[in-house]
Amino acid sequence: MCPSQVFRSILALCAVAAVEAAISPKVFIIDYYSDEQDAWLGIPEFNLLEQNITLPGLSMMYPDIHCTSDGSVCQLVAGEGEINAGLSTFALTLSPEFNLTQTYFLIAGDAGVNPEVATVGSVTFAQFAVQGALQYEIDAREKPENFSTGYIPQGATSVDQYPQYIYGTEVFQLNDALRQRAITFAKTATLNDTASAQAYRAQYTNVSDYAPALTAPAVIGCDTVTSDNWFSGALLADAFANFTRLVTNGSATYCSTQQEDNAVLEALLRGQLARRTDFSRVIHMRTASDFDRPPPGESVAENLFDNDGGYDAAIANLYVAGIKVVQGILDGWNDTFAAGITSQNFVGDIFGSLGGSPPFGPGSIFNDTGAPQVSEANVTTATTTTTTSDASGRLR
Ligand SMILES: *[C@@H]1O[C@H](CO)[C@@H](O)[C@H](O)[C@H]1NC(C)=O
Ligand SMILES: *[C@@H]1O[C@H](CO)[C@@H](O)[C@H](O)[C@H]1NC(C)=O
Ligand SMILES: *[C@@H]1O[C@H](CO)[C@@H](O)[C@H](O)[C@H]1NC(C)=O
Ligand SMILES: *[C@@H]1O[C@H](CO)[C@@H](O)[C@H](O)[C@H]1NC(C)=O
Ligand SMILES: *[C@@H]1O[C@H](CO)[C@@H](O)[C@H](O)[C@H]1NC(C)=O
Ligand SMILES: *[C@@H]1O[C@H](CO)[C@@H](O)[C@H](O)[C@H]1NC(C)=O
Ligand SMILES: *[C@@H]1O[C@H](CO)[C@@H](O)[C@H](O)[C@H]1NC(C)=O
Ligand SMILES: *[C@@H]1O[C@H](CO)[C@@H](O)[C@H](O)[C@H]1NC(C)=O
Ligand SMILES: *[C@@H]1O[C@H](CO)[C@@H](O)[C@H](O)[C@H]1NC(C)=O
Ligand SMILES: *[C@@H]1O[C@H](CO)[C@@H](O)[C@H](O)[C@H]1NC(C)=O
Repeated sequence: MCPSQVFRSILALCAVAAVEAAISPKVFIIDYYSDEQDAWLGIPEFNLLEQNITLPGLSMMYPDIHCTSDGSVCQLVAGEGEINAGLSTFALTLSPEFNLTQTYFLIAGDAGVNPEVATVGSVTFAQFAVQGALQYEIDAREKPENFSTGYIPQGATSVDQYPQYIYGTEVFQLNDALRQRAITFAKTATLNDTASAQAYRAQYTNVSDYAPALTAPAVIGCDTVTSDNWFSGALLADAFANFTRLVTNGSATYCSTQQEDNAVLEALLRGQLARRTDFSRVIHMRTASDFDRPPPGESVAENLFDNDGGYDAAIANLYVAGIKVVQGILDGWNDTFAAGITSQNFVGDIFGSLGGSPPFGPGSIFNDTGAPQVSEANVTTATTTTTTSDASGRLR
């Protein structure tokens, strides 16, 4: 703390010291719950438990950010579901304890997967994230007979009409040049596979569309759907696949499904408008733990209630593949990553908030110039010293 009744020159020194106290991570890993968190602990490369930083606004289950002692790598455990994940990430982006302007965010969670695109144990990197369940819903038993699903885009009167009510979080597009580098790094990993994952995927035989499910785990680029509703079955999955294609104007293919990421991406995007984050430095990685629909001969409920054959491999591969991405960024920091990876594609949301013209949706609501950022003069720099807690969670 800098006392208020001191000379102006000493105050200036205090301000400098406070700014330097902010941690400037090179990589921030975003996980959602304890198994995903633990995948990164007890590893040879670094120790994320060297600094525990308690932040106001994080999940009550995961109140601490974990960082290496030099602050180069940190981890947020955001909590599960869109509300928890969005609020925790937003609390991080606005925290004066961190300087995130050059930080790469590695979203690293497990996910359901479409057997028409990938298999359990695989590691997926998305360019597009779609908020799949942000739609009207009629119970399928009461839907118009000529509708293929009870989900209808908001403001539309048929399932294949583009949504008319746009909230802004429907679609995010990420920096593909960065994604390709992350894929190249991850491909140097030898992915984990388990006997239970092999037994689970072997059930998807005799359906030609499910051929990708029968392959060995791999690193692939494919897109993700966010839904608080943990859906299962080919009918709902196809409805969300159709919505993904519709809402991205044909650019995205539904592959992975999870319950958080459009919320996290909205928080990181608003962070850029607040001059705190760089949205072109976000990497979306999800490892496949279960199939979104049953194999032939099994009911949807059976697959939903008893589908953990791929779980251990998915959790292991968060670290096995993710560490290659983290190390690639750290090793290439001075030469490449400090300056950022220039994107060749539109990066941002359906509103065009970060500037440019989204290749999906009705067009930028900001005349392609982006939403106003907070004025540089309004950006608060670190004014507090870092608050840490011990293993019992006590502040010190
Ligand atoms: C934030 O971090 C970057 C990269 O480490 C650094 O260049 C910049 O000066 C830092 N800004 C502040 C306000 O600490
Ligand atoms: C369903 O039928 C109604 C008429 O009953 C028609 O207006 C509508 O366009 C049809 N929708 C689809 C998706 O075919
Ligand atoms: C990978 O899977 C094997 C089982 O095939 C398991 O014994 C091993 O511990 C796993 N590796 C990691 C890093 O979890
Ligand atoms: C796949 O087809 C073969 C040959 O018809 C059959 O023996 C096998 O039981 C089928 N497997 C499944 C899971 O349906
Ligand atoms: C998905 O779209 C295809 C092509 O329009 C259609 O045939 C199919 O019924 C749709 N599926 C669902 C579940 O809405
Ligand atoms: C990167 O640059 C920093 C600061 O100039 C320097 O201390 C560090 O050794 C460099 N790292 C590598 C791997 O060259
Ligand atoms: C996307 O598709 C909708 C519906 O067809 C259309 O109104 C919109 O102009 C398209 N957006 C772009 C960027 O092509
Ligand atoms: C929108 O962009 C066009 C073309 O760049 C420009 O002529 C026009 O003045 C802009 N309008 C606003 C309100 O910024
Ligand atoms: C934000 O900055 C502007 C100058 O760019 C200043 O006029 C305004 O008072 C500031 N607002 C706040 C809340 O600090
Ligand atoms: C951080 O918290 C973990 C428990 O979550 C504990 O094991 C570790 O010792 C703590 N680190 C420090 C530096 O207190």
